[in-house]
Amino acid sequence: MDGASVSTAYRAITVTPYSPNVGAEIGNIDLTRPLSDIELAEIQRAFTDHLVLFFRDQKISFEDHARLAEYFGSIGQHAGKKTNSQVTDDPRVRKFHADGNSPRVSGNVWHTDQSCAPIPPLASILYLHTIPKNGGGDTGFASMYAAYDALSDRMKTYLEGLTAIHDGVPIFGVGTPQSVHPVIALHPESGRKLIYVNHSFTVRINEVSKEESDAILRYLFDHCMRPEWTARFRWEPHSTALWDNRCAQHRAISDYLPDMRSGYRVQIEGTVPPVAG
Ligand code: SIN
Repeated sequence: MDGASVSTAYRAITVTPYSPNVGAEIGNIDLTRPLSDIELAEIQRAFTDHLVLFFRDQKISFEDHARLAEYFGSIGQHAGKKTNSQVTDDPRVRKFHADGNSPRVSGNVWHTDQSCAPIPPLASILYLHTIPKNGGGDTGFASMYAAYDALSDRMKTYLEGLTAIHDGVPIFGVGTPQSVHPVIALHPESGRKLIYVNHSFTVRINEVSKEESDAILRYLFDHCMRPEWTARFRWEPHSTALWDNRCAQHRAISDYLPDMRSGYRVQIEGTVPPVAG
C-alpha cells in the first residue's frame, strides 16, 4: 500500500489502488445495507478501472453477499459438482473452506474461474470470516490487460484471431464442459484487449500444431503471471474480494495448511468472451 493514493475522483466511496495494475481497496461503504445509486455507480466504475475490489471489516450475511453480486448480474452456479461440504442453507452461496483434512485446496493454480464453461462467470465474490492464524492464504491476482499490453506488436498480431480449448475435466472431473474461446478477447465494458488463456483450463490452441500450441501456451502462462501485473491480497477476518473474471486471473496460495481458512463464495453469470479485432 506504500505510495498508493486514494483517488479523489470518487464522491461517495474511497478507492485506494492496491497495486499499479490490479486491485483497489474500497472504503466508506457498508455492505450490510443496500447501496445508494451513487455508491453503486462508483463501485461499478472502480470495478472496471481496477478489476478486483477489496472490502475490509464487514461481517456480511448470505443476503448481503447475494445483494452485492446482484448489482453486477444474476447469480450463477459453479460448473463443477457441488460437494456436501460446500452446501449452505442458501443455494446462492457456496461454503469455501480448507484445512489439514481437505482433500485439495481449490484454485491453487493461476486461473480464470471456469473458463471451461461456454459462458464463464462474469465475476466471483469471496468472503472470508476465518483466516489462517499464522498468516498465509493470500490470493494472487493478475491483470490480463497489462499482460496483453506488454506483448510485442508481432506477438499481438500472431495471437489475434486464434482460438483455444478450455477443458474442465482435469480439474472438476468427468461431466464438466469443454469450450472454445478466443486467445485474445475484448472486455465488453472497458473495450480493452486481454489475454484469455490460463494454466488451469487452457489445453490447446486450435489453429496451429500441437508442438507450437504447447510452446506458445507455455510462454503465455509464464508471461501472464509475471509479478509486474500481479498483486497478492492479504486477507483479514471479514475481508471480501470481488474479481472481474473476464480480465483478471487469480490463484489461491495454499501455504497455511493444516491451519484453517474459511468463508463463502458467490458467482455472477457472465457473457461469452468477445473476440478482439
Ligand atoms: C478461487 O480460486 O476461486 C478462490 C481463491 C482463493 O481461495 O483465494
